[in-house]
Amino acid sequence: MNMDDENLLQYYLELKGPDAGEWNSSPQCIHTQLVTRDYIKKTFVHFDGIEVCNVGIGTGDWDDYLGYWLKGKGSLTSIDIDESICETFEYRQMREQHPNPSKVVCRSLFDSDLPKEAFDLVTLIGSAINETGDFKKCLDSCFRLIKHGGHLMFMASLKYTPVEMLEEYISNTIYHIVQKDLYEAFPEYPFFISKIRKY
Ligand SMILES: C[S@@+](CC[C@H](N)C(=O)[O-])C[C@H]1O[C@@H](n2cnc3c(N)ncnc32)[C@H](O)[C@@H]1O
Repeated sequence: MNMDDENLLQYYLELKGPDAGEWNSSPQCIHTQLVTRDYIKKTFVHFDGIEVCNVGIGTGDWDDYLGYWLKGKGSLTSIDIDESICETFEYRQMREQHPNPSKVVCRSLFDSDLPKEAFDLVTLIGSAINETGDFKKCLDSCFRLIKHGGHLMFMASLKYTPVEMLEEYISNTIYHIVQKDLYEAFPEYPFFISKIRKY
């Protein structure tokens, strides 16, 4: 087995391993995934040539889904700071013959040489905002990627990111919260999703 295949096997074993396996098989996790995937489908129009960017690859499940959603319509760029996450994700999509693979950019979201105003839609999902360590800088950097008239889809845990934090941030910008939905069916993992427009 070559190194890439060994890393890929490790990736699959970790999804079911003692650290992540219990959460990945829980109703809370499945509910969150279902709601988030359904949300983008129902809330955003994917027109021909649409350029989408996801920030924070993690397991890459969300990026896989976005690629399927965009198939035949548009392209996806996936940004992540972690080299091994980027390599495994890119290799996995190639091995699995994903029909609309991501263009992987292994950089920090905070790098100033990332393309400016290049995307119609940027997604920021789950723990990504907390992992960057800087709420304001993270949102500023996401909006820097978005074209005028484009959108941010922002989903985060209400436990770590109260929705008031987002509202306070937006009140100091010219951006506009088009839609904001709270999901509290599972009190262990309440979360919100919002659609924010950049003018
Ligand atoms: C745990 S994942 C969660 C996001 C993923 N969309 C999900 O819901 O499964 C968060 C990702 O953000 C990445 N990350 C953390 N800081 C970052 C930064 N400054 N720039 C880009 N990616 C970053 C981490 O490497 C990690 O892969």
